[in-house]
Amino acid sequence: MPAVRPGRRANRSETTWSRPWASVVLVVLLFGAKLTLEATGEIVICNYEKFHLFDSMYRPRTDNFCVFNDVYLGSDVKGADFLASSLDYKRVAFANSKFPQVPPSLFKNFDDIRELYVRRCSLESLKITRLLEKVYAGSNRISAVQLDGNASNSLRELYLDGNRLQGLANLTNLPALEVLVLENNPLLGDIDFAQFGRMERLWKLDLERVGMARIANGLQRPLAQLRRLDLSNNALTYVHVRMFRTFPKLEHLWLHGNRLYYMEADQVRTLMPAIRSIVIDDNPWGCGHLAALGKELRDRGIVVRHGECRKDRAVHRVCCTDETDVMDTRYLIELDIRREGRFQQDVRELRADNDLLRRELERVHLQLAELVTNFTRSTPDPSDRPEQLVATVEEQASGEEQQDGSIPASDEEYDEGAE
Ligand SMILES: *[C@@H]1O[C@H](CO)[C@@H](O)[C@H](O)[C@H]1NC(C)=O
Ligand SMILES: *[C@@H]1O[C@H](CO)[C@@H](O)[C@H](O)[C@H]1NC(C)=O
Ligand SMILES: *[C@@H]1O[C@H](CO)[C@@H](O)[C@H](O)[C@H]1NC(C)=O
Repeated sequence: MPAVRPGRRANRSETTWSRPWASVVLVVLLFGAKLTLEATGEIVICNYEKFHLFDSMYRPRTDNFCVFNDVYLGSDVKGADFLASSLDYKRVAFANSKFPQVPPSLFKNFDDIRELYVRRCSLESLKITRLLEKVYAGSNRISAVQLDGNASNSLRELYLDGNRLQGLANLTNLPALEVLVLENNPLLGDIDFAQFGRMERLWKLDLERVGMARIANGLQRPLAQLRRLDLSNNALTYVHVRMFRTFPKLEHLWLHGNRLYYMEADQVRTLMPAIRSIVIDDNPWGCGHLAALGKELRDRGIVVRHGECRKDRAVHRVCCTDETDVMDTRYLIELDIRREGRFQQDVRELRADNDLLRRELERVHLQLAELVTNFTRSTPDPSDRPEQLVATVEEQASGEEQQDGSIPASDEEYDEGAE
């Protein structure tokens, strides 16, 4: 245990500790916390200790946290007052605790809190205060998240895996976010990547098991830092690598556990220049398509990670069945329809281009006519043969009357009539 420092609110007697009796009081208070919390207006003290958790790459991490143990609160979470021997602690965790929301007094007392660990606390809603940089809120029942002022410029890592989120509208304004884990929120459904458009520093996005059936990418600008994208265990049936064109640094893509039977990857190197691995196993691939796809990816040095294949046939060590080739055919028909749609789009675009060109041509034509008019004004008879030009110039030098517009005007009329 580190040296116990006087709290910032040194005027409050509960928070001003002196070393000799601090631990005794802590022990007594911690012991009493669980018993007394059922009453209201209780003081809960955390214990500053080494705390084990996992980092953004699932590596074990140990850090000093002030840990509250066994905090049980009902729907009225305002009853408890959360304190520590020092209120300067920046990292706070709850263990073996249960409350529908983080009690507001925690944020009031720990006003410099940067990391909050509230996994498995039965939370139903979550409030993210302005200074928080990392929030571990997985395995709760969270359906609503609220950001202080609807935005945070501090939040770098947000773990909301295993919750009940139904939308991300409140989570779009997070410009400092680097890691967003939304795994296992099956009520989220289809998500447009445009929702992450402001997270320009995002390098890890986990959308495993969110109930996504199709990919929508309305991003206006690329997410230039994204390197890891997990879309596994969803209900995707079709993927075109074009859908990932806005992630120029994407290295690892997880697509396993979907319902994929068709993937278009012919431009993979152009559209995903940094890609190193695409996990595609555990999908109902038809062996025919898989053979071509696997070759396409492997020929470009992309690792196709695979699982174990017990009963099915395997191609490139990825399971597939010959039966689903029927689906491939169906899908090819669907693709043909889509191609036809694309063709019609092309025709429409060509028509628009054509109109544009015609208008441009008309404009040039008018300009030319004007030029001719101007030219004939200065040189009275443009139909003159070269040998007659000398005479024309001489004539012009001798008299001004030729610059009168009568002849050119008729020329112009002739031009228009010729159309
Ligand atoms: C979004 O935030 C507002 C307040 O800003 C809150 O009332 C609402 O419950 C939140 N909704 C969700 C779905 O998180
Ligand atoms: C926060 O954002 C949500 C969703 O965009 C919106 O419904 C809510 O009104 C916003 N709240 C504030 C305080 O701006
Ligand atoms: C023709 O002459 C007029 C008047 O001198 C001038 O304003 C116009 O720009 C000229 N047109 C062209 C196409 O040069």
